[in-house]
Amino acid sequence: MAKNGIVIHYLRTAMEKEIVLSGIRPTGFLHLGNYFGAMRNYVRMQDEFNCYFFVANWHSLTTHPDTKTLQESVLRVVAENIACGLDPEKVSLYVQSDVPEIAELYLYLNMLAYKGELEKTTTFKDKVRMQPENVNAGLLTYPVLQAADILIHRAVKVPVGKDQEQNLEMARNFAERFNHRYGETFPLPYAFNYNSELVKIMGLDGNGKMSKSENQMTTLFLADEDELIRKKVMKAKTDQGPLTPNSVKPDYIQNLFTLMGLVSSADTVKKFEDDFNNSSDGNCIIRYGDMKKQLAEDMVQFINPIRNKAADLQNNKDLLLKIIHQGADKARTSASATLTTVRKAVGMEYL
Ligand code: ADP
Ligand code: TRP
Repeated sequence: MAKNGIVIHYLRTAMEKEIVLSGIRPTGFLHLGNYFGAMRNYVRMQDEFNCYFFVANWHSLTTHPDTKTLQESVLRVVAENIACGLDPEKVSLYVQSDVPEIAELYLYLNMLAYKGELEKTTTFKDKVRMQPENVNAGLLTYPVLQAADILIHRAVKVPVGKDQEQNLEMARNFAERFNHRYGETFPLPYAFNYNSELVKIMGLDGNGKMSKSENQMTTLFLADEDELIRKKVMKAKTDQGPLTPNSVKPDYIQNLFTLMGLVSSADTVKKFEDDFNNSSDGNCIIRYGDMKKQLAEDMVQFINPIRNKAADLQNNKDLLLKIIHQGADKARTSASATLTTVRKAVGMEYL
């Protein structure tokens, strides 16, 4: 390229916004883990980047073959994302199955993915343990479909929670292999969080992560009624209090502080931090009952408006359908441009 050409190319890329993509499976109700691990970042990123967010309904077939409630779940995920602050005018908000270009890219990437590495993936091993009667090929190649989701828009930033780190590493491997075999086509995607660390919200019993499919009573859902939120928080696991001042917090106590840090005021967090640090056996200042009461009220204040807005939107199915059709149009424009380049690179263009 001539020197001028290089400069123009450089200026153009610098001016273009970086591409962001993320997806959520419609396998149940969204919860605080989804919000703080993923959706909170989506909302912050929508002004700064060129964003694609989608509902991964193909992925949900790997674990949820019964599709009776799938459409309802897809629309609920869309409604809950908008209720959390996502603006469908600023981003492309679409449903995976409305973008068939992803399936074709998935096919090419499958030829670059090895059975051995797919079998070693943590999420695959977990799911084999959970559903030994249905170890289907879609489950095995789940990370390949996820890589296709990301690479179809040439996304570089992927806002996800900590549990997705390995899938992102695999997406980079597939992209690198593609580039190596067929020529430079894809930029490499990375997991993204505004803070340096990816987030993991644990269940209220301090065991495992909050999740759509497991631990219903230890997970706080964005659709939970106020009373249920209070009940779940008050049941969260605690103990008799620290035995020495400035103790290290056990995981389940740390988790309550983490949640408080996310939904309560800085003063409130500081008060309970100080109480914890100044407590000792025989002089226990921190009252976990009071802490949970405060957390429950702050949690209600946080979840209540999201729940109400999502419920209103779910009553307006026409609007939700309009939003996902518009999202699919934007997504297909970007996806078909990438696929044209990919077909050429692989040698699938017959003109
Ligand atoms: P789930 O695990 O509840 O089925 P998904 O797998 O669909 O949820 O995850 C959607 C997004 O939410 C992903 O980016 C994932 O990393 C994030 N996420 C899910 N659970 C948590 C959690 N407990 N803490 C932090 N992030 C989470
Ligand atoms: N595997 C992700 C999850 O379980 C969902 C997902 C599918 C995704 N495709 C994606 C996330 C692409 C980010 C990018 O949470």
